[in-house]
Amino acid sequence: MDGPKDKSTIALEARTRAADKLYSPSAARNAAPIRDVLAPLLGDGARVLEIGSGTGEHAEAVCLARPDVTWIPSDPDAASRASSTARSLEIPGMEPALAIDVSVPQWTEHLDFVDAVVCSNVIHIAPWSVAEGLAAGAEALISGDGLLFLYGPFLFGEASAPSNLAFDEDLRTRNPQWGVRPLDAVTKLMARHRFALHEKIEMPANNLSLVFRPEPQ
Ligand SMILES: C[S@@+](CC[C@H](N)C(=O)[O-])C[C@H]1O[C@@H](n2cnc3c(N)ncnc32)[C@H](O)[C@@H]1O
Repeated sequence: MDGPKDKSTIALEARTRAADKLYSPSAARNAAPIRDVLAPLLGDGARVLEIGSGTGEHAEAVCLARPDVTWIPSDPDAASRASSTARSLEIPGMEPALAIDVSVPQWTEHLDFVDAVVCSNVIHIAPWSVAEGLAAGAEALISGDGLLFLYGPFLFGEASAPSNLAFDEDLRTRNPQWGVRPLDAVTKLMARHRFALHEKIEMPANNLSLVFRPEPQ
């Protein structure tokens, strides 16, 4: 699958490089907290699809903790895919990265069902259509007792963390289509795709881990 035509719309973290492997200071900071929350949620031998996997450091952290899991990273950005794929050569359970842009309709075509879809730090730094595409695709790919895991900053109206309000303003200055998403808007979007919010876990630096599970049919 090709990535988005206008690469300037893709936001990437600050990164350093060693051969194909990229290193993001923010991913290094939040990889352990995400691993500690996510690893116990995954069932035995779970198949996980990560959207917007960036450098692949989160995939690496979870796979090292859970070698029984199969983790499929994905990203529309070629350098990010090369980084995750380089890590996959060393990390049991990690597969080479797929080229997935969730704003492309029918992006799930040709993909198998998965037990979990994981997406960290993507929906605020992309147009809202990316959140919509993520929700629709996750609905198509996850069944039964699977889960959709989101990590990142979220807004709560006037109760929002000042750092997240400032981040929201900064994002909108950079691209008017970006912005920290209100939790309420995200849960309503997910509900339209039959996902209910099961867990909301406070994370360092005013981030949240959100665990959505499919509503019984
Ligand atoms: C800020 S980075 C986060 C990377 C990583 N998940 C992390 O938390 O460190 C955002 C990622 O989202 C990806 N992305 C942007 N638009 C996307 C889209 N339409 N579909 C899937 N991924 C996208 C970017 O290529 C980038 O790797």
